[in-house]
Amino acid sequence: MSARLIVDARAATMTGAAPYGLVEGAAIAIEGDRIAWVGPFNHLPRYFAGWPRQSVEGRLVTPGLIDCHTHLVHGGNRAREFEMRLQGASYEDIARAGGGILSTVTATREASEDELVALALPRLDALIAEGVTTVEIKSGYGLTIADETKMLEAARRLGEERAVRVRTTYLAAHAVPPEYASRPHAYLDDVVLAGLDDAESRGLADAVDGFCEGIAFSPDQIARVFDKAALLGLPVKLHAEQLSNLGGAALAASYNALSADHLEYLDETGVDAMARTGTVAVLLPGAFYTLREAQLPPVDLLRKAGVPIALATDCNPGSSPMTSILLVLNMAATLFRLTPEEALAGVTREAAKALGLEREAGTIEAGKRADLAIWDVEEPAELAYRIGFNPLHQRIFGGNA
Ligand code: NIG
Ligand code: FE
Repeated sequence: MSARLIVDARAATMTGAAPYGLVEGAAIAIEGDRIAWVGPFNHLPRYFAGWPRQSVEGRLVTPGLIDCHTHLVHGGNRAREFEMRLQGASYEDIARAGGGILSTVTATREASEDELVALALPRLDALIAEGVTTVEIKSGYGLTIADETKMLEAARRLGEERAVRVRTTYLAAHAVPPEYASRPHAYLDDVVLAGLDDAESRGLADAVDGFCEGIAFSPDQIARVFDKAALLGLPVKLHAEQLSNLGGAALAASYNALSADHLEYLDETGVDAMARTGTVAVLLPGAFYTLREAQLPPVDLLRKAGVPIALATDCNPGSSPMTSILLVLNMAATLFRLTPEEALAGVTREAAKALGLEREAGTIEAGKRADLAIWDVEEPAELAYRIGFNPLHQRIFGGNA
């Protein structure tokens, strides 16, 4: 099936002026792994007229979904911590007592690369079952050069085991490991910066991330990591303003970051800085929900400033043990008051930008990869409206069903 036409589609192209970029009665021409043409069937150029046709019988077709922020590769689980939080302990209390991220670090160090792949596959499969065709996966639970490398290798292997595009992000600046307690700069020198050279030279990192927070790294410390990323020509992202406002988003923007993520405590200065550089705001409603945050991200300010808003699962064992991108859409609408159209854009067009993939994925347009999701829904808003229901009919990755 190297050249074919999808016909009788309602195509939510996510481009142009119409809501959802919707084209009724659409045809989508697929040649090899690319979209060759999209538009109303009655405008189909003669060139495509003889191609084999697949009718989708009026179903909605969207770009393949993109989960642009995950920690899918990790050992262990933190169900015990979940119980502790139910008894009143906070996420920060648990982290300061050596639990939290560090307990996942112990479990991840103990796991082999094969075990990490095996543990992550069911989580990846859950995302794929909901139409995800691109997933970003971070390191950050190894915190030694060897263990960070092991996580990134595991992430790359996931992309070979399944028909999905994996983008890897180097997140050694996630927490200071116990062996470097109170010596964050030594950890940065010995592990984060040295490991970044190593990951870059092996082609294991598509981007560089950090956690800028009182329980993690200061803006000055993150700046050292970003300086190194800039030297190596790698794009950056940042976990910023999740639990407090340290000005992380503005720092990230000053490095032309692809995205700043979480952002509950983002202020107007940070919003303006992001708007100037086109840095994407990645909102993570699963972490907001799990940690029972009271502070909402400044969605109206982001909208007014024209900052692109993306959404992701943040799938991780602590703050967002979530493997449903459709639930992200629902939570973004219900908790953050995003419109269903903004929510869908957040896991397609804007998520592609957050990964630097806007020329490749995220919309249905001629020249982009044929990554599509076909849905049994009557209205596009149904994707955000239902809770715990998966209407995926078919998923197409690089032209292949
Ligand atoms: O995106 N905020 C920092 N990092 C992760 C959580 C990691 C963890 O708790 O294991 C996040 O929420
Ligand atoms: Fe995260």
